[in-house]
Amino acid sequence: MAIWTSCYICVLVLYIASLDVSTGKLQEQEGKTSAGGESATLTAHQIFFVVQSQRNRHHIEEAENLREDILRQSLGLGQASPEILFLHETEEPAGAWTILPILPRIASTLHGKLAWLFFCTEETLVDLKHLVHLLSQYDHRQEWFLGHPLHDEEATIIHHFAFHEGSTSFLYPDFEAGWALSRVLVDRLSKKWDLTSHDLDFTIDLKHEVALYIWDGGKGIKLTAVPQFCTLNETGKGCATAVNTTFPTCGKPVPVEDIFFAVKTCKKFHHDRVPIVWKTWGPQAKNIEFYSDESDPSIPTITLGVRNTERGHCGKMFAILKRMSSHHELQSIPWLVIVDDDTLISVPRLAALLSCYNTKDPIYLGERYGYGLHTGGGYNYITGGGGIVLNREGLRRLLASGCTCSSDDAPDDMILGMCFHSLGITTIHCPLFHQARPEDYAKGYLAHQIPISFHKHWNTQPLRVYCEWLFADDMSSNVCNSRDEL
Ligand SMILES: *[C@@H]1O[C@H](CO)[C@@H](O)[C@H](O)[C@H]1NC(C)=O
Ligand SMILES: *[C@@H]1O[C@H](CO)[C@@H](O)[C@H](O)[C@H]1NC(C)=O
Repeated sequence: MAIWTSCYICVLVLYIASLDVSTGKLQEQEGKTSAGGESATLTAHQIFFVVQSQRNRHHIEEAENLREDILRQSLGLGQASPEILFLHETEEPAGAWTILPILPRIASTLHGKLAWLFFCTEETLVDLKHLVHLLSQYDHRQEWFLGHPLHDEEATIIHHFAFHEGSTSFLYPDFEAGWALSRVLVDRLSKKWDLTSHDLDFTIDLKHEVALYIWDGGKGIKLTAVPQFCTLNETGKGCATAVNTTFPTCGKPVPVEDIFFAVKTCKKFHHDRVPIVWKTWGPQAKNIEFYSDESDPSIPTITLGVRNTERGHCGKMFAILKRMSSHHELQSIPWLVIVDDDTLISVPRLAALLSCYNTKDPIYLGERYGYGLHTGGGYNYITGGGGIVLNREGLRRLLASGCTCSSDDAPDDMILGMCFHSLGITTIHCPLFHQARPEDYAKGYLAHQIPISFHKHWNTQPLRVYCEWLFADDMSSNVCNSRDEL
C-alpha cells in the first residue's frame, strides 16, 4: 500500500528546531521539587484508569481480571475505588482504541479531585500502592506525560520514517507498561482535539502516534521516562507496573490439522520466497496451499483465474475466501490463516493462541491497523503481512453479506476490514503479529514479547529472523539447529 507517501519533512524540520529546547527536563525539576503538599496525599480515587479492552469474550475476561485486581488492591489500601473505563464499552468502539478521539468525552466526566489518567492494556500488571506513590511525586497541576520509554534504532516504516536524523532520541511510551497523563494535560489535549479538524489517516503504531500528537512538533511536551513503569518486575526498582509476559493461551493448543494456511504468491517469487516458507514454517503446517497467477506443479500452486495485480490483490483474496468456503477438502477446517509468501509465522504459537477463542463467535484476528478513525467514521483492519486469522463463522458471515472488492487491485486487507466493520464484527488485535521486520520495532518492546509473526524479506535474512524470533525448540524443523545454513 502506498501509505508511506505523506510528507513528514515538516515534522522533521520542527523537530530539529526544537532539539535544544529541553522543556521536559525543566518541568521535571520544577515538578519534582514542588511535589509534596497537596500531591503527596494523592489517593487511588484520584486516578482514572483506562483499559485498552477488546470486545471479545476472552479479552473481556482478561480486562475484568485486571479490574478486579485493581479494586481489590484499593480495598486493601483502605482507599475509595478508582474509576476504571473499558475502551470497548465506549460509544465509538471502532475508534476508541486510538484514545485521542475519546479524550474529550472522558475529560468531561472527570470529578473535581481527579488528578491523573492512567492507561494500560490487558497485559499490564499494576501495583496500586506503588503507582499512587509514584504519581504523587509529580505535581499534577503541571502537564505530565509519563511512561516507560521506547525509541527507534533507525527510522522505520511503521513510524512513516519520521525524523530520519533524530529518530533515536524521540521517546514514546511502551503501552504495555502503562502510561499516565496529568489531568491538566488531558484537559488541554481535549480542547485542542475538539478545535482542530482531523485528516483521513492511518493508525499504525498508536504509541508513537500519541507521543507525536502530545509533542506537537515541539509546541507540546515530551515523554518523561519513568523507571518505575517497568516491563520486567525487577526487585529493588520499586516497579509500579510490569508486563505479564506469559504467552496468551487458554488450555490445549488447537490441533494444527484444524488450521488452514493460504499463502499468496505470484510467479515472480516462486523460486525465492516459496523455498523459504518450506525451509521455515511450511513443514509445520498440515494444511497449506499456495495461490499464484501461474501454475507450478513443483510447489504446487493453485491458480484462481484472477489476473495478478502489482498491488492490492483484493480479487485474489476473495477468490481464496470463496475457495475456502466451497472446496470440499477445506470445508471442515475450523481456522483459516491468510499470509503473504514473505510472512514468517510460528505455527505452534498460533495454535496455542487460538485456544483462547470460541469457534462459535466470528473471529477476525491479527495485528490491527486503523483507517480514518480520527474523522469519526473509519474502520479497523487486520494488516495482511502479519497474517489474517479467520474462523468459519467469520468467513460464513463475510461471504453471506455479499461484501466484496471495489476492484481486483483494491487493498485486500483494508477491504476485508471494511466488510467486517460493516457487519459489526470486532477486529481483534494481537500485538504478537507483526506487519514489519524485527528491526522495525523498538528493541525494548520486542524484549517482552513471544512473537507469532513477522513480515518482509527486504534487507534482512529471513532464516535468521525465523530462528531468532519464531522458532520453538519443540518443533520438528531442524533448520535452526544447523546454524551454518544461515
Ligand atoms: C513485583 O513483584 C513483587 C514481589 O513479588 C510484588 O509484590 C509486586 O506487586 C510486583 N509488582 C508488579 C507491578 O507487578
Ligand atoms: C498473565 O497472563 C496469562 C496468560 O494470558 C494469564 O493466564 C495469567 O493469569 C496472567 N497473570 C496475571 C498475574 O495476571
